[in-house]
Amino acid sequence: MNNKPTVLTIFGTRPEAIKLFPVVKQLNAADSINSLFCVSAQHREMLDQVLEIANITPDFDLDIMRSNQNLDELTARLLTGIGEIMDKVKPQRVVVQGDTATAMTGALAAYYRKIPVSHVEAGLRSYNIYHPWPEEVNRKIIGSIADQHFAPTQTSANALLKENIPSDQISITGNTVIDALFATVEQIKDSPNIAPALDSLKEKFTGKKIIGVTSHRRENFGGGLENIAQSLKTLAMRDDVAIIFPVHLNPNVRAVMSGALEGLDNVAMIEPLDYPNFVNLLDMSYFMLTDSGGVQEEAPALGKPVLVMRDTTERPEGIEAGTAKLVGTDQNIILKEANALLDDLNHYNAMAKAHNPFGDGTSSIKITEIVASSLS
Ligand code: UD1
Ligand code: UDP
Repeated sequence: MNNKPTVLTIFGTRPEAIKLFPVVKQLNAADSINSLFCVSAQHREMLDQVLEIANITPDFDLDIMRSNQNLDELTARLLTGIGEIMDKVKPQRVVVQGDTATAMTGALAAYYRKIPVSHVEAGLRSYNIYHPWPEEVNRKIIGSIADQHFAPTQTSANALLKENIPSDQISITGNTVIDALFATVEQIKDSPNIAPALDSLKEKFTGKKIIGVTSHRRENFGGGLENIAQSLKTLAMRDDVAIIFPVHLNPNVRAVMSGALEGLDNVAMIEPLDYPNFVNLLDMSYFMLTDSGGVQEEAPALGKPVLVMRDTTERPEGIEAGTAKLVGTDQNIILKEANALLDDLNHYNAMAKAHNPFGDGTSSIKITEIVASSLS
């Protein structure tokens, strides 16, 4: 054991892994710190897909996920499990990302032990505690604990300043998702055969406009998801489109989507894609229909219009840039906006411009420098 300060990075879901693997790699390469990372495995298969592609192996794996877990039991198991790891490791600093239950309990367990917390992707706010739910409040809890706030943009930094977070605790770093995206785009360029999963669908759907779809939000369970499914079913009646939908492993999502979409010839409901294959889907899609947070950040960087199936967003930058549009979960609005993109080329071209409000691919370097210098 050396006597360098230990930084413990904690994450558990697919999007956290995508956004933190570039940070973990930088922290591991930093000479002045002992970098360890713990996965809660709030997600299992979808997390492991990212760990494998990123080629990083956790120091601790809590294996928390249970089928159809609810927020109470998940939160309780996470808090206890992460706390035990902290007692074993006794880190000098903890790093969490975003707004999931793992990130929130990671920050809370650190607070209970008076360990300082760095928050990656700080300051995103929708100002509606039920959209996204429960993430808006998770992110605010982390914000009230952390003493290093890595805001992706000026907008998120301003939100923190408005909440009286001291300005010297806030750094505008960009979003690490752009680091992950750029690295993966390069990886695919260098070795195109790392992302073959969609080759046969590409051939099957030749001549059609491909709509890439993802959907998983808890606040859309019930009516919202059903509306999304029916909208996709109606869109699929057009013979000039094909829908490729890697379906989230949450059984609540699968049940609704299978019920509405199974057996439709121009709808491919497929298993979750690993990150390079998903980047490939972004690239081959005419536009994206999604309720995901990360896709709202990736699509503008690639110049892909994105219709956001949420009532509000904590990522207004893509909308301000003109690449993203909020369409909620009302079938009429989803169909009107999707048909407008399909039928009106001027409208499409106005949205399909590459914008990158979320960073230049160097966020994880900036974050690591700040973390390391605060411990030296
Ligand atoms: C979680 C996060 C959400 C994030 C999303 C990214 C919380 C409260 N929610 O939501 O913020 O946007 O991840 O996808 O932190 N499952 C599997 N295998 C997997 C992953 C999930 O089977 O690899 C199934 C399990 O039945 C699990 C369920 O999906 O119980 C729900 O997973 P959970 O992490 O609780 O919620 P998500 O909706 O994925
Ligand atoms: N993603 C992926 N494979 C898929 C679907 C999504 O790798 O089949 C990636 C996507 O590029 C983005 C992240 O997963 O970076 C988004 O995850 P998710 O939608 O689960 O969560 P959110 O971003 O809404 O928190």
